[in-house]
Amino acid sequence: MEYLITTHPGFEDIGIEDLIRFGAAKNKIFLPKDVFGKVFVKTSSKVIKKLARVKSITGIYEVLGKRRFDGANSIYELLRMHRSKFKKQSIWILFKPVRKVLPDFDKLRRNLSRRLRLKLSRKPTYLLRVDTFRGSCVLSRFLFKPTWKDYRKVKLPFSMKPDLAHCIVRAAKFKKTETRIWDPFCGGGSIPIEMALLYKGKEIFGSDIDKEKIDASKINAKSAGVENKINFFVCDARNLVKASLDEVDCLIGELPYQLKAKTLEKLYTGFFSSAKKVLKQKGRIIVIVNRKRTVGKIADKLNFELLEKRRMIKGGYYTDFLQLVC
Ligand SMILES: C[S@@+](CC[C@H](N)C(=O)[O-])C[C@H]1O[C@@H](n2cnc3c(N)ncnc32)[C@H](O)[C@@H]1O
Repeated sequence: MEYLITTHPGFEDIGIEDLIRFGAAKNKIFLPKDVFGKVFVKTSSKVIKKLARVKSITGIYEVLGKRRFDGANSIYELLRMHRSKFKKQSIWILFKPVRKVLPDFDKLRRNLSRRLRLKLSRKPTYLLRVDTFRGSCVLSRFLFKPTWKDYRKVKLPFSMKPDLAHCIVRAAKFKKTETRIWDPFCGGGSIPIEMALLYKGKEIFGSDIDKEKIDASKINAKSAGVENKINFFVCDARNLVKASLDEVDCLIGELPYQLKAKTLEKLYTGFFSSAKKVLKQKGRIIVIVNRKRTVGKIADKLNFELLEKRRMIKGGYYTDFLQLVC
């Protein structure tokens, strides 16, 4: 059976790692080129069931059919060809081509259901989905969304969801030799908490300039059962030396972005200069930023080398994951 797996955009490799870990064959996994957050896999339903709790995968769909895409009529043909599978059921159709390709999804959905005599319902038996990829379209049926415990008792505005923090921590690929890891912009604590859930034997630190955020982080860490594995404290990231934590292997965090450009530039410069003083030689900085040019310019000036960058999405906005070395 073939499945369409949706992942956190930019972290498809982490979803693929889990597919392989739970038994999918590497040569049966297909990552479409230039497509964000989607992977195809041919595997058994037994493997798929094992994905019920993974944080790296956001949805699992059974592929019903594929064909060439050359406009709305191809979708009609695709549905018509596979109609026998769902004609007696109530359905809803999600469209995943961009609106530029198919301008009016609501009208299209109504037209298709009328022409094919399908029963539309917002609470359907079959939730269908149509994706287009480079000249072809795929019809699939929603199976399930993995579930996991959201331990956040305090959900701050803009705080990161645990599943995304999980992918970021895994993409950081901490080595055994990297033991001292610090999130100096920890907010509600999702990144250090995921680190503590994923790794044993690391010294994990989380700090923020705002005491309220630190209190929230502590509550969330307790609810996740890792309060004893993380050291949370108040600290201004422009003055990391004040925390008396030297020889840090890696700084990881999501930089503030809801400030004026000039203020952010000053804050980022302060952070990167102060990071140099606490990081070990060849220590890493992993940052989630939505101003990659500003960060790139500052990091370059301070002689950080860019090791990796990946485009991702946070809260519906394009963001970047940058990995730099000191
Ligand atoms: C984008 S949020 C991080 C959200 C966090 N990843 C979470 O899951 O909640 C940025 C954080 O940086 C903090 N911050 C702003 N200026 C700071 C500074 N100078 N030093 C340390 N933290 C700062 C803010 O209080 C905020 O919590």
